[in-house]
Amino acid sequence: MAHKKKTIVVLTGAGVSAESGIKTFRDSDGLWEGFNVDEVATADAWRWNKEKMLEFYNQRRAQAASVEPNAAHLALRELEEHFNVHIVTQNVDSLHERAGSSQVLHLHGKLSEVKSSVDDSLIFDVGDKPVHLGDKCPKGSQLRPNVVWFGEQVPEIPNAQRIMAKADICLIVGTSLVVYPAAALVYDVPVQAPVFVVDPSKPAEFIFDREITFIEKRASEGVPELVSHLIQNYV
Ligand code: OAD
Repeated sequence: MAHKKKTIVVLTGAGVSAESGIKTFRDSDGLWEGFNVDEVATADAWRWNKEKMLEFYNQRRAQAASVEPNAAHLALRELEEHFNVHIVTQNVDSLHERAGSSQVLHLHGKLSEVKSSVDDSLIFDVGDKPVHLGDKCPKGSQLRPNVVWFGEQVPEIPNAQRIMAKADICLIVGTSLVVYPAAALVYDVPVQAPVFVVDPSKPAEFIFDREITFIEKRASEGVPELVSHLIQNYV
């Protein structure tokens, strides 16, 4: 008889890409690749700092394209052979897709895309190419990275909530869970679903009304171990 695959929902953050060579946000004194987040990742900064922000994202885009998925991304791909896997990522890199994961929702957008600054529906794939001041959308507005900045709505939240609510099992990998509304997604996971967290340091504000298995390891080590455990015990 056909066996219905269980659904595993994986919420990932910067920590899953750390060992690929992309720095996390909060592990280095609030500086991100040497930049102050307020100057490069807020809606306000875009009004007065377009050139610097475009340059910052050009660098991030080129960097993300030059690194490779690590063992954690690859293990999550392998999980698809046994489970229906949905990844909800806060990351703007494409390392989950490049590892082969097929159902990836980007909550905070993608580095490989730009969009119109007057019409959110006009989105263009630029791959690893830079975007400059003066590069315009068909409506004549400056193109901007298709990433969510502080002070902006997170349009994918309702879709992400629907996915979290389908979880038979939930994995949380490499996120400090301090940025909302993404952090609140853990509360959409059904109460009966076991939750596993892989992170070398326990998310500080992690108040969660159920038992959690905490794997205090780096993603490249902890995720492959967890994937083997899930395949052995939960298929
Ligand atoms: P953070 O930098 O806040 O947190 C990174 C997490 O990864 C921390 O809990 C670290 O302990 C953990 N970590 C570090 N190295 C790791 C490793 N090798 N393996 C596993 N975990 C590791 O990053 P996020 O939680 O992703 O938003 O940040 C959330 C959002 O804040 C980002 O999406 C971004 C940022 O501002 C926007 O840009 C809108």
